[in-house]
Amino acid sequence: MDASYVIECASMLLRWMHVIFAIAWVGSSFYFIWLDNSLKAPVDPVLIEKGVGGELWAVHGGGFYNPQKYLLAPRQLPDELHWFKWESYSTWLSGFFLMGALYYSQAGVYMIDANSAIQTPGAAVLTGMATLVTGWLVYDGLCRLLFNRSPLLFGAIYYGFVVITGFVLCHLLSGRAAFLHVGAMIATTMSANVFFWIIPGQKKMVAAMRAGQTPEPVHGKRGKQRSVHNNYLVLPVIFCMLSNHYAFIYSGPQPGLTLAVLLLAAALTRHFFNLRHKGIYRWQYPAAGLILLLAVFITHAPKAQPTTAQSARTTTLVDIRPIIADRCMACHSEKPTRMPSAPNGIKFDTDDAVRANAPKIFQQVVQMKAMPLGNLTGMTDAERAQFAQWFKDGAR
Ligand code: HEC
Repeated sequence: MDASYVIECASMLLRWMHVIFAIAWVGSSFYFIWLDNSLKAPVDPVLIEKGVGGELWAVHGGGFYNPQKYLLAPRQLPDELHWFKWESYSTWLSGFFLMGALYYSQAGVYMIDANSAIQTPGAAVLTGMATLVTGWLVYDGLCRLLFNRSPLLFGAIYYGFVVITGFVLCHLLSGRAAFLHVGAMIATTMSANVFFWIIPGQKKMVAAMRAGQTPEPVHGKRGKQRSVHNNYLVLPVIFCMLSNHYAFIYSGPQPGLTLAVLLLAAALTRHFFNLRHKGIYRWQYPAAGLILLLAVFITHAPKAQPTTAQSARTTTLVDIRPIIADRCMACHSEKPTRMPSAPNGIKFDTDDAVRANAPKIFQQVVQMKAMPLGNLTGMTDAERAQFAQWFKDGAR
């Protein structure tokens, strides 16, 4: 079997798994946040006597549920206790391997572009991986330093760090690799929170209780700090992961700034939901998020495109064929040289195939300037104008 086909299959399988695990992780964590924020103090004296601090009733899937949260701990721990950790670990693992299959194995096309400061695939991969580790070390250091300080102060400082990282990565790598790595850095931090702090803390608490001692409250407090952070980081991470499918988002004139704005919009939206669970409606947060998003859309709208204006003669495929051969076929052909196989199955070997893709070509080359990918083949503005003219003349 052809190696490129194997990469394609691996990426399909890993992406599928990654999305499933992420749904399980985010789903369970959203559920517990909702639960925690929605609990009401019990009125039943039996529950109060048992040490229950909050409870609620819910109906779902034809059954009634009555979760109860203990203020400190139940007197007797049951033998079977459900833990939530593999959702997080498997999301990280599948994500890391997916990034390996796409970005690290094809760093020359995905991580580098005509303007990136780094131009060797090896250095790009190392930079990407170093970002994941550095991101965690800086975050963890900040958490320890600011353990008893206001969460808002922590949020502001960490946000500043992420924004700076975004600017640096947008300078060093291609826009899409930069956006993806900022997301992967935050996601790594979230999984590391679960692995290094939340789960070990819970284990210590359970061990203490099984030994008949009172667990030290610091474990619970640390776990809570990290888990609140994870909660605010989810939406920004999902945004970064999806940004890769929208070239205009990461290929604008100021990608670092765009990223900063959109991460803020995502966190503000999350804040709204957290308050809403408690019955507090602060619409100004999602409204601000939406305004920021709209600002990005408006500032990134394609400008009116210059055409070659040789109005005497229509531009046809005969004129742009040589440009396609020079600038596109290295990736989009039966036997591409720069990629293992033609991306998205788009090949320009025949004239019919070019014509059939004309609207997409116009969008990618003229409007978004997303193609050639990272302008690795050095397309000029004059050539883009010729594409614009060709499309205007009816893409014949
Ligand atoms: C260095 C490799 C490379 C070069 C050169 C390149 N492309 Fe692409 N192209 C890609 C990749 C990779 C994708 C898939 C994009 C993605 O996954 O976001 C793609 C996707 C596309 C798409 C599909 C977008 C969609 O919405 O499905 C079109 C159309 C396209 N390219 C046109 C072109 C044209 C026209 C040129 C030449 C001017 C060109 N490409 C040059 C790598 C390349």
